[in-house]
Amino acid sequence: MKKILLLNGPNLGLLGTREVQIYGKTTLRDIENAVREAAKAKNADLTAIQSEDEGFLARTICLAKGVYDGIIINPAAYTHTSVAIHDALLASEIPAIEVHISNIHKREGYRHESLTASACVGQICGLGAKGYLLALDALLD
Ligand code: DQA
Repeated sequence: MKKILLLNGPNLGLLGTREVQIYGKTTLRDIENAVREAAKAKNADLTAIQSEDEGFLARTICLAKGVYDGIIINPAAYTHTSVAIHDALLASEIPAIEVHISNIHKREGYRHESLTASACVGQICGLGAKGYLLALDALLD
């Protein structure tokens, strides 16, 4: 059974009520449940973690080494700032896919760059919550 780690960064715990015109009304719990169900249907096991804390996220990625087969990560605001998460993804040697609910390239200039995407297999953005399910499919295929 494949083990997949779903990581969400700061402020994503407020999905469903946070800037709904950008992020929609789907809650993080809805997303985690949908990805867990989809994983189960493909005989995979999902662990879902959300944190506001950059150090915790980096540490979680490092501890995932040798334990998880794939990572789906939305680093949220840390996407644009975190060398620590980039380095942790590389150090873990686990294939990772970066997901953004919004199209970061259509938004403010400071969101156009991702420091973390280059440590990932690929990036999905702008497809809403569905991006997480697409990332799961890509990892399991
Ligand atoms: C986000 C995009 C980021 O720029 C932002 O800081 C977020 C959410 C997204 O999913 O669209 O918190 O990662």
